[in-house]
Parts: sequence; structure tokens; C-alpha cells
Amino acid sequence: MLSSLISSTRGIPTRSDVPQHIAIVMDGNGRWARKRLMPRVAGHKRGLDTVRNVVQLCIKRGVPNLTLFAFSSENWRRPADEVSFLMQLFLTALREEVKRLHKNNIRLRIIGDCSRFDAGLRAAIAEAESLTAANTALTLSIAANYGGRWDIMNAMNAMLAAQPGRQEPFTEEDLAQHLCLADLPEPDLFIRTGGEQRVSNFLLWQLAYTEFYFTDCLWPEFNEAAFDAALASFRGRERRFGRTSEQLGDA
Ligand code: IPE
Ligand code: IPE
Ligand code: MG
Repeated sequence: MLSSLISSTRGIPTRSDVPQHIAIVMDGNGRWARKRLMPRVAGHKRGLDTVRNVVQLCIKRGVPNLTLFAFSSENWRRPADEVSFLMQLFLTALREEVKRLHKNNIRLRIIGDCSRFDAGLRAAIAEAESLTAANTALTLSIAANYGGRWDIMNAMNAMLAAQPGRQEPFTEEDLAQHLCLADLPEPDLFIRTGGEQRVSNFLLWQLAYTEFYFTDCLWPEFNEAAFDAALASFRGRERRFGRTSEQLGDA
């Protein structure tokens, strides 16, 4: 197994100054718009510009994996018109961006429970994923109708279905191989914009040893300087994975 894929609770992942995987909760679109007396959805539109920028920044800075939280399993609780705007924006963005992503050698995948999406959106997702499947510059995972608890339950059901008569206890590895992102290293850096300091049911299992970075910056304003500030903070962290500082010198 590649050392970068070692589970952080089972072994010691490779440490590097540049995160190999960044996971972002893109929060603050609504507040950005309200501050400008615009409808909340105008913030979501501007947020898409930030997504394009951050994707390019990851490639520029040598970050090979980026996972973005676009729509949580709890976001269905929002007003119906905001939910339908977000679904429409998702569909349009998929259709319009996929060629550019492909040209930039970016692999796109959608993680989450897609069964709740309509047929048109599901088809666009399948098409985008298969077109870009062999690309290698960046793996961009978009979490849509995603919930960390859903991910764990889904993996648990898949694990039980794979070995129905098993008597021995299951292991972390048995479950982890069925989680979304099982083929990627666990996130090194978690960023949440918008000032809230919570996980909001994002990658619960995968964040076990991730470094957390919270910023008041609203997602539509998250620019190159803000991104680099997050990377600088990450470089300054001492990642011990349960060991002592003294041991790190020997590692
Ligand atoms: C994040 O921005 C985008 C989604 C959840 C889809 P918000 O819409 O949550 O923005 P705020 O938190 O209300 O400012
Ligand atoms: C988290 O943001 C989900 C996404 C960014 C998609 P929310 O704005 O929905 O989170 P809460 O409700 O403030 O925790
Ligand atoms: Mg929010």
C-alpha cells in the first residue's frame, strides 16, 4: 500500500510541507450577498468563481487532491427556491466547466448520495466523471448531497453485504475501503471559510488527524492571499499523530 494512503489511526502518514489533500467547507456565500443587499443566490454564483480560482491555485502550488463541500445532506432544509437554484447552478456548472477541467487534466468526481438528484443531473455527473477519469493533474471531488454520517453508514452496509456470514469482528480497513475517497490520502488540511468553527457533517471519518484552519473570510472573497495564508498556517503545524515532539526528530 502507498505510504500516503496509510490510515492516520493505523500508521503514520507521510508528512509534507504541501498538503496532499485539502478539504474545504465553502461557507459564507449567503452573507456575502446579503452584505451587498443582493439575494443569497448571487453569493452562490460568485462562489463558483472562487471554486475556479482555488482549483487553479491547487495545481499551481502542487496540491494533488481537493475536496469541496458544495451541498450537504442537511441543505435540503433550506427554502425550496434556494435549493432549486443550487441544483440548477450545479447542473449548469457541470455542463459548462467539464471541457475546461478536462483540458486542464483534472479528474472530477462527485461524492454523496446522488440518488436524490434528477435524471438529468445524474447523467451529467456520470458523463463528466467518465470523460475526466484518467486525468492526473488534480483530483477534484465535489461533495453534493453528502453527509459524513451517510458516508459511514453507506460504507457499513456495503461492508456487511460483502461478507454476510462473517463471524470475526470487522476492522477499520474493512469499513474504510467502502468510504467515499477510499482511494485518496486522508485530508491533510481542512479549511472552513465564513467564520463558523464546525464540521457540519463533512468528512467525519476521514478528518481523524486533519489539521483544521478556520477563517472569517467569506467564500466569494477567498482569494490567492487567503489560500496562501491557509497553506502557511499548515506549514507551521507540528503533526504528531499521537507521538511526542521529541520522537519527531527520529521519524
Ligand atoms: C455556503 O454558503 C454554500 C452552501 C451551503 C450551499 P451559505 O449559503 O451557507 O452562506 P451563509 O453561511 O448563509 O453566509
Ligand atoms: C456547510 O455549510 C455545507 C456546505 C458548505 C455545503 P452550512 O452553511 O450549510 O453549515 P451550517 O448549517 O451553518 O452548519
Ligand atoms: Mg452557511
